[in-house]
Amino acid sequence: TTKTSIATLQKMKREGTKISSLTAYDSSFAKLMTEQGVDFILVGDSLGNVVQGRDSTVPVTVDDMIYHTQCVRRGASNAFVIADMPFMTYSTPEQAYDVAAALMQAGANMVKLEGGHWLVETIEGLKTRGIPVCAHLGLLPQSVNVLGGYKVQGKEQQQADDTLNQALALEEAGAQLLVLECVPASLGKRITEQVSIPTIGIGAGADTDGQILVMHDMLGMNSDYLPKFAKDFLAQGGSLADAFRLYSEQVRSGEFPTAEHSYK
Ligand code: KIV
Ligand code: NA
Repeated sequence: TTKTSIATLQKMKREGTKISSLTAYDSSFAKLMTEQGVDFILVGDSLGNVVQGRDSTVPVTVDDMIYHTQCVRRGASNAFVIADMPFMTYSTPEQAYDVAAALMQAGANMVKLEGGHWLVETIEGLKTRGIPVCAHLGLLPQSVNVLGGYKVQGKEQQQADDTLNQALALEEAGAQLLVLECVPASLGKRITEQVSIPTIGIGAGADTDGQILVMHDMLGMNSDYLPKFAKDFLAQGGSLADAFRLYSEQVRSGEFPTAEHSYK
């Protein structure tokens, strides 16, 4: 298979081809999902929850991210891999440069960081130095202690307008991809229409340029909880390979997500 790059994802947005992505944390799953058509992989700091069994992403370290990024890269040499920058490892531009360099050298093609206007200088500096950035707006899990829980963001008009303005500022600063987490479908659509970089939604409705899910959620691994925005593709597919194949096909065709996976 040919190497996927940011240019591939930009082309998909321009042509209206939906982008499918999943998180992965090890080589075996990274290999399998890539073979089944998933367009890119995020080594998410959600590994704090699903791999380490913690109740937030706050305790995840740079060393954790390096280890899992290396594992994923070994399993999927041609995949486009994004690595999350952990909590408080990009609080100044200089700190961000060091951490991002380590993640790129571990095998990432891009780094992701959570937040709005305050990241403008950091994103400009990273891009200037050769490090592509994925921004992340809406629900910011690293800020769960400020937010007081995992809640849908941008329901009020004021907050929605603010999120759109942040998206525009981060694009202007040089962000090349944007994750939108848990926002009303109408806001996902509005931001996707206003920015020229691909938007990737998780609980952001059907109109973002692409979708992402935490792998464990779309495999229905938590028997007593399936997030509203997720769907159990293993139940439908019957095997891991078919679950990943169905997911990428249903994102591509627009069959997933539907209104039942979206917030109003
Ligand atoms: O860590 C993660 O899995 C993420 C996705 C939910 C976008 O950031
Ligand atoms: Na994350």
